Amino acid sequence: MSSIPSIELLVFPVDCDSFGHVNQATFLRLFEQARWQAVAQGPGVDIFQRHDAWPAVRKTTIEYHASAFPGDLIRFDISVTNIGRTSIGMHQTARRSSDNQLLAEADFLFVCVASDGTPTPVPEEVKAFLGKRPSPRPSGVQQMLIRGLTTGIEVQGDGNAVLFVHGFPLDRTMWRDLMGTLTGWKRIAPDLRGLGTSDGPESGYSMQEYADDCAAVLDALGVETAIVCGLSMGGYVAFELLRRHRSRVKALMLLNTRAEADDSESRRKRNEMGAAVRKEGVGVLEDLMIHRLLAPGSVDTMPHLVDRLKGMINGHSADGIVGALEAMKNRVDSTDLLPQIDVPTLVVAGREDGLVSLESSQSMAVGVPGAQFTVINGAGHLTPLEQPIATGRVIREFLESIS
Ligand code: MLT
Repeated sequence: MSSIPSIELLVFPVDCDSFGHVNQATFLRLFEQARWQAVAQGPGVDIFQRHDAWPAVRKTTIEYHASAFPGDLIRFDISVTNIGRTSIGMHQTARRSSDNQLLAEADFLFVCVASDGTPTPVPEEVKAFLGKRPSPRPSGVQQMLIRGLTTGIEVQGDGNAVLFVHGFPLDRTMWRDLMGTLTGWKRIAPDLRGLGTSDGPESGYSMQEYADDCAAVLDALGVETAIVCGLSMGGYVAFELLRRHRSRVKALMLLNTRAEADDSESRRKRNEMGAAVRKEGVGVLEDLMIHRLLAPGSVDTMPHLVDRLKGMINGHSADGIVGALEAMKNRVDSTDLLPQIDVPTLVVAGREDGLVSLESSQSMAVGVPGAQFTVINGAGHLTPLEQPIATGRVIREFLESIS
């Protein structure tokens, strides 16, 4: 376990804005000061120089919860969420010592670099100080280095693991409502490479890469096997996980997805969409996609959902979107895989799905030995978002039936 001491720091007027609150940027400085203070009380502040390694901050995510004022004593606690070969993930909290009020919390991802700027392994002495075994946050969003890419992953709860793989052009937050209701399972939702909060390369996207990333996410979280739940493109990733990492898949939930590969017309449309994104930016997908994702009528009756979808769309990089289009365009046909699937499988379709026909979903379910098939009324392509209660019930019943 970690041997990192808690650190208390006093707030001074110089830390505050003209209303007397600790300034948001000051919190970043205090988080850093607390880290160094902890190192000073432990192995000494020269621990990194001693090994020609420097912890460069690669990513910071910070959330502010309450104000702090001059005279407050703030306690900083550090937990190590991940130790990779060259990377370290940390979660830090700042609480007022007098009443334990959480003031701010932050996730930091560090990469150790040598004096020539190249990544270098985390020194053993540093690992010993941080604790041999990471103490992952029980819940929340983490940034982890997965196969060399900073990857946003939401983890909630404990129990049998369920890996949620999002569709296109969405991100892990599409699972938020569903994940909130499935207490009793360890829910894991990554942003696929290049999408949401995950970094991605400029090119080289494929279903195989996505599947290998998902397996690496399970490795990083110490999860051996998971029930894999994929929506649409996430279902294509689930098929690839089965092909490449069969032993990791305990059961399958295939939502609004299909087994067939793209035909030539679909490939042509993907090229057109990719070109539009390169020319006009990812925002162009608002008009191109949202009305196709939702059941007819939902665009007018669910404005909050439309806003959420716009938020997800505009959070992506153009490289990530074009990469996803390439990956979908080049995916292989999974029809032949269906009869070989030997894990419990649930297939869910939206009655008004304009992107995946009911026939396609149904024939996929018929193709998988013993698969369960459910149609959600009043939903288009996004069953868990358009009908969260009905979809959540079906999913919970399936999970309970296989527990
Ligand atoms: C998705 O929702 O992931 C996409 O619509 C899938 C696709 O375009 O094939």
